[in-house]
Amino acid sequence: MTTVNTDKLSSARFAQATDAFVEVFTASVDFDQRMAQQDIQGSLAHAKMLTSINILAETEYNDIEKGLEQISTEIEAGEFNWSIKQEDVHMNIEARLTDLIGIAGKKLHTGRSRNDQVATDIRLYLREEIEVINGQLKRLQIALLDLAEKEADTIMPGFTHLQVAQPITFGHHLMAWFEMLSRDVERLQDCTKRINIMPLGAAALAGTSYPIDRHMTAELLGFSRPSNNSLDSVSDRDFAIEFTAAASLIMLHLSRFSEELVLWTSAQFDFIDMPDAFCTGSSIMPQKKNPDVPELVRGKSGRVTGHLMSLLMLMKSQPLAYNKDNQEDKEPLFDTVDTVVNSLRAFADMMPHIQSKKENMYKAAKQGFATATDLADYLVRKGIAFRDAHEVVGLAVRLGVETKRDLSELSLEELQGFSAEITADVFDILKLEGSVAARKHIGGTAPDTVRAAIKSARATLS
Ligand code: ARG
Repeated sequence: MTTVNTDKLSSARFAQATDAFVEVFTASVDFDQRMAQQDIQGSLAHAKMLTSINILAETEYNDIEKGLEQISTEIEAGEFNWSIKQEDVHMNIEARLTDLIGIAGKKLHTGRSRNDQVATDIRLYLREEIEVINGQLKRLQIALLDLAEKEADTIMPGFTHLQVAQPITFGHHLMAWFEMLSRDVERLQDCTKRINIMPLGAAALAGTSYPIDRHMTAELLGFSRPSNNSLDSVSDRDFAIEFTAAASLIMLHLSRFSEELVLWTSAQFDFIDMPDAFCTGSSIMPQKKNPDVPELVRGKSGRVTGHLMSLLMLMKSQPLAYNKDNQEDKEPLFDTVDTVVNSLRAFADMMPHIQSKKENMYKAAKQGFATATDLADYLVRKGIAFRDAHEVVGLAVRLGVETKRDLSELSLEELQGFSAEITADVFDILKLEGSVAARKHIGGTAPDTVRAAIKSARATLS
């Protein structure tokens, strides 16, 4: 028999050894070894199922179990000898198993293919990582609720077009961030439903001629059910795309928070103080304290969206079923996971140390005639049509601009010059405290409403 100088498990068909560069070019072991523990988990469940249908003997199963346990320990200890010759994580583990236990190791691959194996590993991997992401999301949500509670009464300007619009409370602003994260949590929960379906049993693409029990394997691995179609099972990466889309939105939200934190720490706003531990200095300008963490997170948000585009383009126009293209799914996916986990962690660590500068916020809210809408609403309550009220307030604002005074600093006589309906009680609503307190419907910025929102938000987290 002619043999070729290669150690590959699948090499007998080849009369020529793989080109040395092609071997390196096509290998994925450098990155897919990250899924080693999931690969072992999948193999154990597969072997158990094969034993239950008498394809493997009990003794063979016991050997496989022992061998895989040893491999798992070797990997954890960093003692496993990963070889590019074995191309990927699956073949490396199988080759080592055969080294350790002989013939039973060679039987493990009965009734499966790397195509259903890799699809299973990614799903197991993502399922675990989503738990980690959820943990960090929850830490950040709790930190936001705690800060919002402290800042429920703190008045700041609310912006539209980045121009002072109406007074709001800082607690309310923080709760807007909380809401974004709540939707992120929901999105991850939703995509987990589709991640948690088992491709194993699809084999290469058409299923297998062995009487496999896919329900048993699915149950052993904690999947909700086996997949419905073998071709779809080995080629589908929708679940990874969906996850990366959800991850992109998390990063997009963090980029918005980041931008606001960067603005607020600037001398021009000076709304908050960011702890030194989350900032760095400049190598040339001794006075500088730069908000590095939010800036970096803002920057990293772009790369996750880039990964989403990579995955979408990777799948575009792929014919059924498995194609080697899909090996390219892992690096973007892994980097997405790392980026999201680290960015959330940095934010969750930083948030409890954010200090508001209340006087500066208050002063800024007084600029820009932030209570103009309150004056219009006041006139409407006195029986004036909103458009006419709008006109009256416009004139009052113009006087304020010309004389450099806020509406609350105009005299009653001056205000009455614009509308006879105005009486002394107008000053209650022209004050920032009155303006925010009036917005007490669900979703409003009134301190008591914000406290109620925090309370019900806390209940959703427990
Ligand atoms: N390393 C491959 C991947 O990541 C595993 C599947 C390979 N299957 C094959 N028929 N070449 O997709």
